[in-house]
Amino acid sequence: MRIREHGAVSEDDAWSTVAAEWAATWGAAAAPAHAALLDATVVGAGARLLDVGCGSGELLRIAADRGALVAGCDPAPGMLALARRAAPEAALREAGVEDLPWPDGSFDVVTAVNALHLADDEEGALAELRRVLVPGGRIAVASWAEHAANDLDAIEAAVAEADGDDPSPDLPERLPGGLEALLAANGLAVEASGIVEAPWAAADDAALVSAVLLGEDAATLEELGPVVVAAAAPFRFPNGEYRLLNRFRWAVARA
Ligand SMILES: C[S@@+](CC[C@H](N)C(=O)[O-])C[C@H]1O[C@@H](n2cnc3c(N)ncnc32)[C@H](O)[C@@H]1O
Repeated sequence: MRIREHGAVSEDDAWSTVAAEWAATWGAAAAPAHAALLDATVVGAGARLLDVGCGSGELLRIAADRGALVAGCDPAPGMLALARRAAPEAALREAGVEDLPWPDGSFDVVTAVNALHLADDEEGALAELRRVLVPGGRIAVASWAEHAANDLDAIEAAVAEADGDDPSPDLPERLPGGLEALLAANGLAVEASGIVEAPWAAADDAALVSAVLLGEDAATLEELGPVVVAAAAPFRFPNGEYRLLNRFRWAVARA
């Protein structure tokens, strides 16, 4: 899943290219983080919620089921098409966090899961999230936890090494206290934060390799597939299934 470390969505719209496969393999991976954010922001009937970088719409589905009035945006049309299917009641727009197509003060809660780091300018992105919130509204963010907290990252480190890449350092917001510091530095009052476990499974070698190397070409799959399988050996069960334990950090702040 090396696409998650790539910067903002590229001109050739990398996220749309992998949308269906991403949704099938990783779309539910952040579900425990989604639930933590919606619990902490007390999202319920009538709350106006915007999910930025909504991907294939999993958070929107849960929020709508809790009675929220949901809106979402994502710059990748392929992701938005899936979100439209997952949450037909959502007001969806093709947009990145840099320029949200809603007026000031439109929402009670704005969420961004594994999306803020894809903005060119995270501080500008936070200011934009704040702009569309009502005074006293809540910003709720989550990201993968630090490498050491995720089985997946051990596999990705092995892939990077085999590919001749240096291990990527943890983004600051992945580290303990990182999301809280980012929010506080931007004038937001942190109310709650935490870390949640996010189990993930692949049925067999093929499913594991295509999920970890999502978006890579056939030659790369052939070259690095065996690296993925070898690195994942500690997480393999006798029936051939792989079960990984990953974690997400989350934080909620008031505007
Ligand atoms: C890892 S997925 C996360 C999807 C979803 N938020 C979740 O909870 O799983 C990242 C999403 O961010 C979107 N994205 C990429 N660049 C973005 C930007 N500048 N602003 C907002 N979203 C962006 C991608 O198109 C993709 O759908």
